[in-house]
Amino acid sequence: MDTYILGIESSCDDTSAAIIKNGVLLSNVVASQSVHESYGGVVPELASRAHQQNIVPVVNEAIKRANITKEQLSAVAFTRGPGLMGSLLVGVSFAKGFARALNIPMIDVNHLNAHVLAHFIKDEDVDKQQPPFPFLCLLVSGGNSQIILMESYKEMKIVGQTIDDAAGEAIDKCSKVMGLGYPGGPIIDRLARQGNPKAFTFNKPHIAGYNYSFSGLKTSFLYSLRKWVAEDADFIEKNKTDIAASLEATVVEILMDKLRKVAKAYKINHIALAGGVSANNGLRNAFYEHAKKYKWTVYVPKFSYTTDNAAMVAITGYFKYLDKDFCTIDLPAYSRVTN
Ligand code: KG4
Repeated sequence: MDTYILGIESSCDDTSAAIIKNGVLLSNVVASQSVHESYGGVVPELASRAHQQNIVPVVNEAIKRANITKEQLSAVAFTRGPGLMGSLLVGVSFAKGFARALNIPMIDVNHLNAHVLAHFIKDEDVDKQQPPFPFLCLLVSGGNSQIILMESYKEMKIVGQTIDDAAGEAIDKCSKVMGLGYPGGPIIDRLARQGNPKAFTFNKPHIAGYNYSFSGLKTSFLYSLRKWVAEDADFIEKNKTDIAASLEATVVEILMDKLRKVAKAYKINHIALAGGVSANNGLRNAFYEHAKKYKWTVYVPKFSYTTDNAAMVAITGYFKYLDKDFCTIDLPAYSRVTN
């Protein structure tokens, strides 16, 4: 019998629903929220309200595009955390109610696990290259910067992570300092392609072990720009491509330095990239260069699976479904990983 999983994602500012049939993606609908742009960051209360408006149409559209009926669904998988509590509650509550009404199992999904397992989404019923276990994954997004050791679909060990800001958050904040739009990541990426990455130097952290820190870079960026603008009011406008390229190069170096150390220590050369910042061209190029130089086999996701989406939740739910790893209705959402 065919297995159809509905995945639901609402951990931050994207409302998304996807349908997977026997591990193959049938539909993936994402409603992004432009309401946050004028605030320069996600406003949690506005995100929850937008999820409330989007959730039913988005789920309906995912079912329609998959060309199935809701009665054919085998289970409902949903992001339980980590994320913004108000946002999560919309998806979690909807998923529980929907699964209960259809009398089918519900499956809780860890958002970070889902980002990594995005590498196992099949777009058609053909095998594409997927990372073999064990592999390492650099997960970089607006809320996370982690090096994860994946020993199986569900055995996930965080080897290193940021002790303060996430990489995406730091880039977004620096872009705000430059007076650019939100989210800053794609803007910095575009400007950086035309700039000199060696034009300016910003502070890099000295953290022992495999953890990251991005708050020092952010402060160094802010103070440098203040000083330069005090000397020349048009400094940012005149140098924006070089500033963006230098900022991006610093972030990429910080990320790759620790990743190289972990790969060496764990003797693993299958290395994947995931999360919103994995759309960054500088970071992607660094992955391809490392593949050549260090004989890594690298796995870089399709652009559509880098930012938050429900296809990754549905595929994670599919693997849990095969293990009959279901959850009960009393399981609450969680904003942070505590274990
Ligand atoms: O995974 P994601 O969609 O969700 C959250 O963690 O919220 O990641 C969003 C982050 C933002 O910080 C955004 O600026 C960053 O991913 N981002 C990028 C690029 N595209 C998105 N950062 C650098 N270069 C990009 N091309």
